[in-house]
Amino acid sequence: MGNRVLLIVSGGIAAVKCPDLIRRLAARGIATRCIVTRGGAEFVTPLSLAALSGDKVYTDLFSLTDEAAMGHIELSRSADLVLVAPATADILAKMTHGIAGDLATTALLATDKPVMVAPAMNVRMWEHAATQSNIRALKARGIHVIGPAEGDMACGETGMGRMSEPADIADTVENYFQNSGRLLGRRALVTSGPTFEPIDPVRYIANRSSGKQGHAIAEALARFGATTTLVSGPTRQPDPAGVHVIHVETAAAMLAACESALPADIAVCAAAVSDWRAADIAPGKLKKNDAAATTLTLVENPDILATLAGAGNRRPGLVIGFAAETDNVLSYGSAKRDAKGCDWIVANDVSAATGTFGGDDNTVHLISADGTDSWPKMSKMAVAERLAMRIADHLGAPERTLQ
Ligand code: CTP
Repeated sequence: MGNRVLLIVSGGIAAVKCPDLIRRLAARGIATRCIVTRGGAEFVTPLSLAALSGDKVYTDLFSLTDEAAMGHIELSRSADLVLVAPATADILAKMTHGIAGDLATTALLATDKPVMVAPAMNVRMWEHAATQSNIRALKARGIHVIGPAEGDMACGETGMGRMSEPADIADTVENYFQNSGRLLGRRALVTSGPTFEPIDPVRYIANRSSGKQGHAIAEALARFGATTTLVSGPTRQPDPAGVHVIHVETAAAMLAACESALPADIAVCAAAVSDWRAADIAPGKLKKNDAAATTLTLVENPDILATLAGAGNRRPGLVIGFAAETDNVLSYGSAKRDAKGCDWIVANDVSAATGTFGGDDNTVHLISADGTDSWPKMSKMAVAERLAMRIADHLGAPERTLQ
């Protein structure tokens, strides 16, 4: 039997794209059953959704005939995946707080299936601290957020908040069905974020890494079924759902945590590890007129990627590093692959104009023994998914234990 999606259509103008979304899912062999909120039905008629999905459309929690035919609990579990598109600020807030006042929100609270949301709202509503905090909470719960995209909006403003295009949403859903479980039985280790190297009790050396790319990779590998450990320096990213996270501050602590996570089949070093640390950490706060404060003596930190790549019989089967460069991205990236002894390097341009450090998008080149593959600019989540796909292709079918 093909895969089935329960599509929850909430009340935003982007609901008019739902017929197209249903068509695109069907073209990928994915069947859709719809729940439409009262607001959603103002923008798209349940009749058109029923015609396209070839199924009854559910709209009212308190319809006795519907409850008799299929209860809302059963409905919430009748599909392989629940997709909320468009997801308004209102339904995201209700999901965050477990409010279940209608059929859509009740189904979302009752489901035991994976959930994806495609937010759509005005740019100010998307950027509002309340919405951003809700999104963080939902992500931490394992809900996959698709988009939103940037562009002109129905309200006349321009910015982040447009619902992702139906083709992109359908691709994400299709990828999910094709890839979940491809790394089952594999163990993955990912490093992410900056390291903080103390100078004295209040000061430290750090860098601008946000941890977005490394965290996205850990999340994608876990979604593919790998047992994933994320060793993270200090970041503002929520712990990805389904991932064992070890929080560290310094490069030395990051190395120790990585070694404790071995053996692993896959290691992805995405952390921006500080190359140096202070030779001596002052036990008390250095004072402005303290002679020792004007000269900092640095010593080199251990190279975690090179250590993992050279770990002999404890070496993960596939070791992947990043090369953050501002010039000569390909040649420096390729040299780093040789110097560190890793299998693949994901080279990216982090010069200020690209907005990569801290931003949501990345433009990367995958450098391996087979050559270089340059990927178009895409979201860090999309880079993570594509990398996970490459890893799964490379490792092949998981070894299965016969019972
Ligand atoms: N890396 C690491 N440990 C370090 C330094 C870097 O594991 N002490 C890893 C990073 O996680 C990344 C790769 O090495 O996967 C390259 O990091 P990058 O900062 O680009 O290179 P560096 O080795 O620091 O070289 P340089 O700063 O001279 O470009």
